[in-house]
Parts: sequence; structure tokens; C-alpha cells
Amino acid sequence: MDKILGSCLPAELAMRKSFKWRAFPPDVLPAFVAEMDFTVADEISDVVRSALAIGDTGYPHIGELGEAFAGFSARRLGWAPRSDWVFAVPDVMTGIIEVLLATTPHDSGVVINPPVYGPFFLRIGFIGRKIVEAPLRRRDDGAYDLDLDALDQALARPDVSAYLLCSPHNPLGIVWSSEQLTTVAELCQRHGVELLVDEIHAPLTMPEAEFVPFGSIDQEVTERAYVFSSASKGWNIAGLKCGVAIAGGQRGADVLTERWEALQCSHLGLLASLAAFERAEYWLDVAVAQIDENRTALAGLLREQLPAIGYVPGSATYLAWLDCRGLGLGDDPAATFLERGRVALSPGLEFGQQGAGFARLNIGTSPELISEAVHRMAASLPGP
Ligand SMILES: Cc1ncc(COP(=O)(O)O)c(C=O)c1O
Repeated sequence: MDKILGSCLPAELAMRKSFKWRAFPPDVLPAFVAEMDFTVADEISDVVRSALAIGDTGYPHIGELGEAFAGFSARRLGWAPRSDWVFAVPDVMTGIIEVLLATTPHDSGVVINPPVYGPFFLRIGFIGRKIVEAPLRRRDDGAYDLDLDALDQALARPDVSAYLLCSPHNPLGIVWSSEQLTTVAELCQRHGVELLVDEIHAPLTMPEAEFVPFGSIDQEVTERAYVFSSASKGWNIAGLKCGVAIAGGQRGADVLTERWEALQCSHLGLLASLAAFERAEYWLDVAVAQIDENRTALAGLLREQLPAIGYVPGSATYLAWLDCRGLGLGDDPAATFLERGRVALSPGLEFGQQGAGFARLNIGTSPELISEAVHRMAASLPGP
């Protein structure tokens, strides 16, 4: 592993106090919550350290964050948003929830595509909006796709007011094509629903894939859309609390401006995000290359030790969606891996009922720890 990612030595990782490292007893190898084991980029730690050194720990000022995100997005993703339509938010989920509160009626429906990031269900429910499911379609080869007919039907419901698209998709790591995004845009336009696009995993797109930013789609509806992104996944700084919401047009910019008091991010998070977008792209390249290598290594390890598990490597991010139904461990295989193997994966059911029999493994770590995780999973199975 390249030394700028650190060493991922278990003894050092165990000193961390984040949720990942404190949720389970020390004999459990954590491979669940979406944070990586890599060391933070120097450009980021330098800026945070410098701020602490001069007591610069107050409230945030947006400063050049809009320009920094727009520059990164143009260079890396091929989309240059207007920098004055980039707003800081404390985190992506809070940004999404505030926009839903501002733009949709109480009790109305929000469409999502399970299996999908679990907090979508919880947070949308907490604000008194209904979840309306348009599940992804699972193909015979184990890959998933958007079910555009199911989506059309869901968006046509009179009680539906918004669609929350996860792009790239967590937990499947799918990057949507520009044709799919165009159809999505047309459907939302036709049904008159708000469109929110969560692009938090976009910086971690794998080398062979092409991520299409929603804002780059040439459609009237992009004006009405809200895009959410962050340095938190790409550079592993979720604990610093800062994301970005990008308004597609003036109406969205007005909504985000009005809600500024509810959307204050952490000042240190803002400084760190600015450094990430502006000048820590080399670190990101190295992290992506490592995750790319890890995907291949995981496929090999599963073939050797757990051939009954189905795994289609994703085109983005460090989360592996494992079809464990062939193991005979019931709806929650992660419970067996935890209990008997002392390795913590995310239960598939956290991502919707479509996740029964599945589990999500975090491979944002060293090849050694991925190997250890698979070894523990295999060891948790009953003997012949
Ligand atoms: C798709 C998706 N959206 C949002 C989040 C949470 O991001 P934040 O901490 O910025 O709310 C995650 C975290 O894993 C995620 O996978």
C-alpha cells in the first residue's frame, strides 16, 4: 500500500475513537460503517492543525468553498457548476432533509431505490414524509439496474412530491449512464416532482467507469434539481462535518440561502473540504487505485474461500454488496459473521427488505485486513 494512505495496522486503528472502532468489542474486526482506514491527506491535516494553532475554531464562512468545489468538479468530473450556487451544509443528509422540508408537503411521498443507504428511510420518515419504493431491478447475473417503469409508476402517484436518487449508488457502487439520468430528468419533469441527487460517492469513481454528474445533463429539469456532494467520503473526513449542496437554479439557491441557519457546517470541516477539493487530488488518486486493487483482491478471496457468495464489483466507492443467500444463513448473514467470526459487516436489511440474505463489506482498508475479514467470514460457517 502507498505510504500516503498510512499502514492500516490494527493496533493503530484500534486507538481511533470513531464509531467504527468503538461500536464493538476489541476482538471484532469492524468492516461496516462507511469510513476508510486510510490516514488523512497531509493537505487536510495541515490546514486543520494550522487553524487550531491560531484559535481559528469559530463559526464557518463559505469563503472560496464554492470555487474550490466547482474547480474540482470541472477538472475531475467534467461539470463546472456556478460557484455562487454551491452552499456549505453540515453533512449531506442534513442538506437533503432541509431541502425536503422546504420544498415538499408534510405526509407526501419521497421515492427512493432500495436496496439503498439506510438513513434515507430513517431520516425521511423522521420528518413526516412517506417512503415510496421503486426498487432496483436485479438481473440474472447479479448486477442491478434502475427499473425505469417502476420509477415512472412511483413518480406518477399523486401523493409523491420528490425523488431522491443515489448516484453513484450505495451499496451497489453503480454509476448511472447519461441516458438513464436524462430519462430520470424527463420523468421528474413530467410528474412535477422535486429531484434531489446524492453524489457523495462520486469522487471515488473507479478508473474504468465514467461518472456523469447530474448537473451536466442538458435538461430543463437540472435547473430544478439539488445535487449534494462532499469531501467526507472521498477524503474520509466525515467527522469534520461539512458537505455541499449545489442548486440547479435561482429557485434552489433561494431555498438554500433562506435555510442558512439550519445548514451551518463545522468551520474546520469547511477548511478541510476546501483543501481537499483544491489540492488533495493526488491522495484521492492513490485511494481510488487502492480500492480498485481491493475490489479485485476481494473477488479472488471470495472465489477461493466463499464461492457461494455472489459479488459483482462496483464501479465506485469502497462498499461491497455480498449476496450471501447461498450460505444458508437466513435473512441476516451479518449476524452470523459477527457472532461466530468476530467480523462486523452491515446487515443487508439496513438497506431495505430487498437486502434479506445480503451483507455489505467495507473494503476501504488494506489488502491484509480484507483478507482477514474474508477469513473470519469463512471461519464462521458451520463445518462440513
Ligand atoms: C449515499 C450516502 N449519502 C449520505 C451519506 C452520509 O453522508 P453525510 O455524513 O455527509 O450525511 C452516506 C454515508 O455513507 C452515503 O453513503
